[in-house]
Amino acid sequence: MSNAFTFDATEEKEMAKLSFRDAPKIVTSELPGPLSKEMLETELGNETPTRIMPNAIPCVWSAAKGATVKDPDGNCFIDLTAGVAVNNVGHCHPKVVETIKRECSVLMHNPDATNPNRVRLGQMLQEIAPGKLKGNVKIAYGLSGSSAVEIACKFARAATGKSYIAAFQGAYHGALGLTLSLTTSETFRSKYRPLTPFVYHVGPYAYCYRCPFRMEYPECDLECAKYVEYQMLSPYSGIDIENVAALVVEPIQGEGGYVPPPEDFLPAIKAICEKAGILYIDDEVQAGMGRTGKMFAIEHFGVTPDMITLGKALGGNLPCSAVLSRKDIVAELDPLSHVLTAAGNSTTCAVASTNIELLQDGLLERSEKLGEYAMAILKDMMDEVEIIGDVRGKGLMIAVELVKNRTTKEPTRIEELIPILWSLRDRGVLMLPCGRHDNVLRLMPPLVITKKHLDKSLEILRDVLKQFQGNILV
Ligand SMILES: Cc1ncc(COP(=O)(O)O)c(C=O)c1O
Repeated sequence: MSNAFTFDATEEKEMAKLSFRDAPKIVTSELPGPLSKEMLETELGNETPTRIMPNAIPCVWSAAKGATVKDPDGNCFIDLTAGVAVNNVGHCHPKVVETIKRECSVLMHNPDATNPNRVRLGQMLQEIAPGKLKGNVKIAYGLSGSSAVEIACKFARAATGKSYIAAFQGAYHGALGLTLSLTTSETFRSKYRPLTPFVYHVGPYAYCYRCPFRMEYPECDLECAKYVEYQMLSPYSGIDIENVAALVVEPIQGEGGYVPPPEDFLPAIKAICEKAGILYIDDEVQAGMGRTGKMFAIEHFGVTPDMITLGKALGGNLPCSAVLSRKDIVAELDPLSHVLTAAGNSTTCAVASTNIELLQDGLLERSEKLGEYAMAILKDMMDEVEIIGDVRGKGLMIAVELVKNRTTKEPTRIEELIPILWSLRDRGVLMLPCGRHDNVLRLMPPLVITKKHLDKSLEILRDVLKQFQGNILV
């Protein structure tokens, strides 16, 4: 299988320079090592217990380069998390570091004011906007993925004069305000009610491995999309469609389990939105900026959305997010009616432009190729590792869904997954889970990961899963 892929030796050599070469290297007898342990304890003593990273994989990040991370005890890890799909161009890419050094000595804070880097980024976003949005968007900047989604929904409401926002079951759009209300996971919602009102969840996403209609694609004839149509257009569904401004959709569900829909699902959903007279907001916060092998994941599906939200890898090493809206939608918004003090920061905008250049300079193709390569290895791995129930993805946005039994698809439990994550860390590989049952390992390394590091991490993954499967299988 892997012989079908050829890798360019010069490119691999260049990529190798971006990461710590000795990863994975574990030098302490236990993990976290003594310095890391002390820091984790001090920090958890100071901070609220709500955080995910230090609880899911206790590890202190003291330095990072390319697709590798070091802790203060001298351990070095291969990073299959990309800082949760943020460091698509790699940690501390020399061109990004150069940009930050240069720009932060010129201008550090501009209160949402015009600055040359912001002007340039705006031009670049116009250029890369997908389909008919190219050259036809108005941009608003935010500070995080959730602020981008909040802004998009706020503008959609103002532009349409309608109050409701719709989303899918299994969606993740953020953990604050309206975005928490759009997110459906009870892990994030249960203790934080009341949630923001004026939200509808219109139906299940096209999660074919766990189809709620118990059907098979393509014989199902997209039953899930038909259900959404019924929800939106039937006067008996309880949805006041006349008062819905927009539907927010992930092009590939992220936190919900790295779920790529079949190719005709999103076009069908877009058509339903048009029929219902509501805007389609494409949430690219996790899947965008080259993660799937294309700048925008929606480009895989031939849909032109009305609005797009970007976050995470747009700024990459620095926080930055943006909303791209078709010009006519936002043309009539009131001047002086929206502000975020630190949005459109000069240095951050310069970094986002550097990120776009790096992605255009070969990383999109690399993401696609490495993704196909990794998927082929993982699919082969299913012969040896019975707890892998499904492997799916696009580019380097790949899900390895774990089950206790392939026939019943009973998901592994979180108590069974945590030891797997810790054991991967102990062998020098950082991975994060996702999914409705917390049973999906997501492979989302920086796109600059070398073939060698990818091979090594997949080898470790196979060993660890084989080691644990005896106690998990039923
Ligand atoms: C699709 C999607 N939208 C929005 C967000 C929220 O982004 P942030 O955590 O930067 O607020 C996330 C975060 O994972 C996401 O995956």
